[in-house]
Amino acid sequence: MLRNLQKILLNGAFEMSKESDAPPSESSGDFRLPGLRTTVDSIPWWQVDLGEEAVRAASSAVANKLLSQGVITEILERQFASVVGVKHAIATSSGSTALSLALLAAGARPGDAIICPAYTWIGTAHAAHLLGCKVELVDIQIDRPVLDLSKVPLASTNRRFALPVHMNGHATDIEGLKAKGYTVIEDAAQALGSKSNEGLLGCVGDMGCYSFSVSKIIGSGQGGMIVTNSDEFASIARRSRTHGITDVFAPEAWDTAGHNFRYNDIMASILLTQLKLLEFRISTLKEIWLNYSFHLENLVEVELVKHRSSYEFGPYVELRVHEGRRDDLIRFLETFGVGARRAFPPLTTAKYLGQNVYVPNALAWSKEVLYLPSGPSLSPNSIEYVCELIKGFFISDSSS
Ligand SMILES: Cc1ncc(COP(=O)(O)O)c(C=O)c1O
Repeated sequence: MLRNLQKILLNGAFEMSKESDAPPSESSGDFRLPGLRTTVDSIPWWQVDLGEEAVRAASSAVANKLLSQGVITEILERQFASVVGVKHAIATSSGSTALSLALLAAGARPGDAIICPAYTWIGTAHAAHLLGCKVELVDIQIDRPVLDLSKVPLASTNRRFALPVHMNGHATDIEGLKAKGYTVIEDAAQALGSKSNEGLLGCVGDMGCYSFSVSKIIGSGQGGMIVTNSDEFASIARRSRTHGITDVFAPEAWDTAGHNFRYNDIMASILLTQLKLLEFRISTLKEIWLNYSFHLENLVEVELVKHRSSYEFGPYVELRVHEGRRDDLIRFLETFGVGARRAFPPLTTAKYLGQNVYVPNALAWSKEVLYLPSGPSLSPNSIEYVCELIKGFFISDSSS
């Protein structure tokens, strides 16, 4: 079938060509198809250009020997707290370490059960698992990749913490989890700037965690942030970020175990420049989704996953493909140098978590959803090209 379609495309039934506004590619250079009129740049799954200001900021940090966590990180923490409207922001080396540090600060200890959605990046579960906690997986909703609250048990003495994940900016009901008795640590790694009627995602629970790795709404290569309005949690998190120590020369005050979860000033300098672009990034990512939606509007074989309101948005464009065609479509797009990613497997796949539970919605999501090329530097022309390929895939399918 793929060969069939390639023939149709190469014989000229497919008129679209990518032109010179092709975005800079993060992966290999040109992708050539013999017979196709134009040279086609590959379209990576994620594209972002941090910009000249980020280059200057990083270089200035290095020139001024601001290498470790210091004054620039403090400035970033203050600005970040002010942008999202919380009392405290604590920068960390990654989103994963932010989650572990938040759990530690909230008082999670080995043996505690932690509620976690069965569909998320495995990093969410590892943050709890590596502390010796027992990850308790709960299925997601049938049409949204977030916890199904109706399946979450009431909190109890050994089950006090919940780690809901706002996957791709889809909001989880945080007040509902609190009402069930949980201390809530929001995994908002993919949700900075997305809002529900409860507020800004990441800022509604007891603590929230963001990630600044490359394919996030704003990034510095790596990095994370905890936000909280609790003075107590913030103070423990700050101490535990540097091995529980406030004064290295006062061992009598060494009273909390910790680790090195620290961020650094080079990355903080970069992230300060990205924070200024946050509103722009949000509107760009929303536009990218709308653009895909415009081009795929009449294609019945796929469903572009929507957010619940215009305040919710995510960095990635999720496409649900029914009838077992998802993987064929990904392979087809790859043939044309277009990077699309499968949804993650459900976390029941990680046997060492010891969670042999039935999670049909997470399973279906994981089999049917793919992430289309996204990222703030993706051009409208590339989106149109990707959509024409998708339409071509299904047209050839129905005619073969
Ligand atoms: C939902 C989710 N949680 C946690 C993380 C971990 O963040 P990091 O990669 O910065 O450690 C990620 C990163 O991709 C994520 O997507």
